[in-house]
Amino acid sequence: MSEQAIGVFDSGLGGLTAVKELIKVLPQENIVYFGDTARVPYGSRSSETIKKYAKQDADFLLSKGVKLIIAACGTVSSVAVELKDTLPIPFTGVVVPTATAAVKATHNGKIGIIGTSATVNSGSYKKEILRQNDRITVFQQDCPLFVSLVENSFISEDDPIVQLVVERYLKQMKEDGIDTLILGCTHFPIIAKAISNYLGRHVRLIDSGRETALYAANLLGSNNILNTSSKIGSCSYFVSDTVESFRRTAEIFLGHSVEANVSHIDINA
Ligand code: DGL
Repeated sequence: MSEQAIGVFDSGLGGLTAVKELIKVLPQENIVYFGDTARVPYGSRSSETIKKYAKQDADFLLSKGVKLIIAACGTVSSVAVELKDTLPIPFTGVVVPTATAAVKATHNGKIGIIGTSATVNSGSYKKEILRQNDRITVFQQDCPLFVSLVENSFISEDDPIVQLVVERYLKQMKEDGIDTLILGCTHFPIIAKAISNYLGRHVRLIDSGRETALYAANLLGSNNILNTSSKIGSCSYFVSDTVESFRRTAEIFLGHSVEANVSHIDINA
């Protein structure tokens, strides 16, 4: 069991920010990633559609014999909450690990949450934060354009378009005096510098990929399915759109290029 891979999925490439962290935290683990690049974004779709897509994505990973599934997507984690109960193996989304880290990080009790429209409308992070500490004040803002910026490689902190969109979305939270901001969508760490430049260094950014990787490590340990091999693990990537477009953009998320182990699949088949 322990040598089986960890399955990770996202609507597109954002989940690779979690893969990058998983590789750091659990270098010996094998990883199978599925990015639904033909159907991204999920964040502006109905709950029914997001749940249907999430089930298909998880079923694909199950067919690969994975031992744990991570929904490295704020939208799926927020909307398809019952997915967890339908799976025969351990599962985590990004909401609980990320909200837990934010509750620990805040000093002034003012936490901002940004995500896709579906994530913010679901209230998922807010509910989890208040469940853990009901004295915290939560500020939410959906930022759908951030996903488009990142998927189209508008990511430089010096790019005036990025700066403008960041200011438009975050002005109110800055005025509200948050000291902690949840990057509630796995695409957002890619523009973390631009966000941090605008909000100031005193605002702590919580990266859902990083927190979820740490949480997954605990989950593997508590289920006794950590890979104890001394070999470095392998990663295979599957996408529903073209392999070429994945290769072009994946480096932005992973920090290194991906030449091998990328395959196209038909997720509707
Ligand atoms: N990566 C997805 C998330 O974390 C955002 C992209 C989308 O809208 O599908 O919510």
